[in-house]
Amino acid sequence: MPDTQISQQVASTKKHTTKMPMQTNSSSAPASPHVLIFPLPLQGTVNSMLKLAEILCISDINVTFVVTDHIHSRLLRNSNVVSRFSKYPGFVLQSISDGLPKEHPRGGSRYIEMFESMKLNSKPLLKELLTSGWLDRGRGPVTCIIADGVMSFVCDVANDIGVNIFCTRTLSACSLSIFFSLPKLIEAGELPFTGGDLDTPIKSVPAMEKFLRRRDLPSFCRSDTLSGPSIQLFKNENQENARAQGLILNTFEDIEGPVLENIRAFCPNLYTIGPLHAHLKMKLAAKSCYTASSNSLRKEDRSCMSWLDSQACKSVIYVSFGSIATMTKDQLMEFWCGLVNSECKFLWVIRPDLIAGDGEIPEEVLEGTKERGYIVGWAPQEEVLGHQSVGGFLTHSGWNSTLESVVEGVPMICWPYFMDQQVNSRFVSEVWKLGLDMKDTCDRVIVERMVKDLMVKRKDEFLKSADRMANLAMKSLSEGGSSYSNLERLIQDIKTISVVHKEAKKQQ
Ligand code: UDX
Repeated sequence: MPDTQISQQVASTKKHTTKMPMQTNSSSAPASPHVLIFPLPLQGTVNSMLKLAEILCISDINVTFVVTDHIHSRLLRNSNVVSRFSKYPGFVLQSISDGLPKEHPRGGSRYIEMFESMKLNSKPLLKELLTSGWLDRGRGPVTCIIADGVMSFVCDVANDIGVNIFCTRTLSACSLSIFFSLPKLIEAGELPFTGGDLDTPIKSVPAMEKFLRRRDLPSFCRSDTLSGPSIQLFKNENQENARAQGLILNTFEDIEGPVLENIRAFCPNLYTIGPLHAHLKMKLAAKSCYTASSNSLRKEDRSCMSWLDSQACKSVIYVSFGSIATMTKDQLMEFWCGLVNSECKFLWVIRPDLIAGDGEIPEEVLEGTKERGYIVGWAPQEEVLGHQSVGGFLTHSGWNSTLESVVEGVPMICWPYFMDQQVNSRFVSEVWKLGLDMKDTCDRVIVERMVKDLMVKRKDEFLKSADRMANLAMKSLSEGGSSYSNLERLIQDIKTISVVHKEAKKQQ
């Protein structure tokens, strides 16, 4: 990034240091709104919020994108964020500490520790950043904040310093609707449940009465106590999100309409502007400046693209369990045997940290895959799903992966791991009819049968509904569509807030 002066001003706080931004040139008009975006420090959320950041940059809005030091260094190492954003003079990538030691895994079962540490350590750093005047240089003061609604401490900071905040959730509306309904579930005695039949219907979540079962609730609900850290974290979500100016969701009306009505009861000012990755693609294509982008926190192995080039149309099942899920070696073997026995070609992402224990891929799997498949440590997933050879996706049902599959019209087999994924997979199979739900089983015979169903026996049926949903997604992004119009409204609201904010500051 030749024109970029990388300035690292070390601001000492009691215990931590703040790396100051990669300062871009300061020619951007100070009159433009200035939005600070603070995503949850995870692959899926950082990815989708960077898409939103770029959409705002295209609309001449200055953006400060705040990530933790841990995410910052991984983005610099593995993505093309720096070179891609160098064309937007109003963009700054800023990092702050999350207060955790370098070696902390920051994910999986220990994600709650990350929240706790950020509340304690990142909160004062964020406040200092916003009040120090450092971010204002050449771009004017931050006029509003967009932050993940689960990080309620950002709402506190915004309120303390008198800046408007929009909350965002990068997961599905169907899962959010369940989070918002947790108090109702508890009141109705549907939570907690001790053991019992996981197929017991759940009746207290509006618009889901006909198909929701205990097993489709977020994984943290499978507990005989209400005192677990996740339930405690998500139980008060609706109140937290209602404190904001509005709620931004990466979804579209045609896919989650009835569920969105429940969310509107808590947060009336809703901006459904997804699927964000496709929305950005459309905006860039309209300006004839689309180039493939990578927001990866891991190194992408692009060799799989040439392997895909040599496969027949819609013959390959793509297998990936996202950025957090793990499995045992026994589970890996069940998947592998099922895939091989299905006789379909497969492309499998096996992250170095996917397999619990030593993480080693058994030699038998590596050797035995050569004939029918291809294994990589991390793939350029959006491109893979858009490749003509890919006809199915065996997924963990993370919301980004689900939307990426929806946009490309690729049917899914779902093996949810945790959180929102349990309900996403129920909607994929039962509501949207886009595939099959394999949750709570991991057996080679079932894997083989489901792969054969998706890729061969029921292929036409699933492709037809996937195609229909992909068309609805694209319609929502086209001029006059719901996501298109909601994005216009969001941008207009950000601009109005900026004018009001600056007027108020002048009068102080
Ligand atoms: C988890 C949740 O399940 C998800 O619903 C929530 O919104 C965020 O946290 P994660 O495991 O990261 O998400 O899955 P997902 O939301 O699907 O995001 C993974 C992202 O990584 C996707 O954008 C996908 O394209 C990308 N990816 C994955 C790659 O680029 N390459 C890969 O090999 C695998």
